[in-house]
Amino acid sequence: MKDKYYHTKESVEEYIELARDVDSRGLIEKFKQILPHNSKVLEIGSGPGSDWKILSTTYRVIGSDNSSLFVDHLRTNNPGGKFIELDAITLDTNIKFEGIYSNKVLHHLKDSELVDSIIRQYNLLRPGGIVCHSFWKGEGTEDFKGMYVNYQTEKTLKKMFEDYFEILSIEQYKEFEESDSLVIIGRKRNAL
Ligand SMILES: C[S@@+](CC[C@H](N)C(=O)[O-])C[C@H]1O[C@@H](n2cnc3c(N)ncnc32)[C@H](O)[C@@H]1O
Repeated sequence: MKDKYYHTKESVEEYIELARDVDSRGLIEKFKQILPHNSKVLEIGSGPGSDWKILSTTYRVIGSDNSSLFVDHLRTNNPGGKFIELDAITLDTNIKFEGIYSNKVLHHLKDSELVDSIIRQYNLLRPGGIVCHSFWKGEGTEDFKGMYVNYQTEKTLKKMFEDYFEILSIEQYKEFEESDSLVIIGRKRNAL
């Protein structure tokens, strides 16, 4: 689903302000423990670009977003960085990656869209490729200012990812409140 929220100048500016103090180093450390340094990584939904900046110190990262406003912001603020306009569901690119990362992006997808995205990620990854994605933990869905939120649990994530990825871990962590978030790390299965 395309969220209206990220496609107006006002809301993009508002989100950039809101996300200014978000610190994703803990999450990225978990990814770094599994994926070798200097690997080629796709970040889905880079938004303001704070995770992209941290990832770039270790990996060859291509940042992406389906909002052209965020892609413009990323290009303006990171000259020399590589950014593409890309939708998380279709992931319409021929570039191959060793890792795919997102932080609080894939909860904007309905379950059926998330499964489509998982299959595309499987196809874009080289053998043994790693995914690392965070989600809001919970049940059901919500609409907030035109922003669709699809909560996930350990069980629902396992069910959607496990046919394509060996689940290396699914952990709870705190973004704002205790255990309000989940991070899943998986390795591409050899053959389906
Ligand atoms: C909650 S923000 C997270 C941004 C960034 N990862 C961070 O942690 O600050 C969600 C981002 O995902 C992007 N997004 C939402 N739905 C998307 C989709 N279907 N495909 C690609 N990007 C999407 C939004 O434009 C926004 O930049």
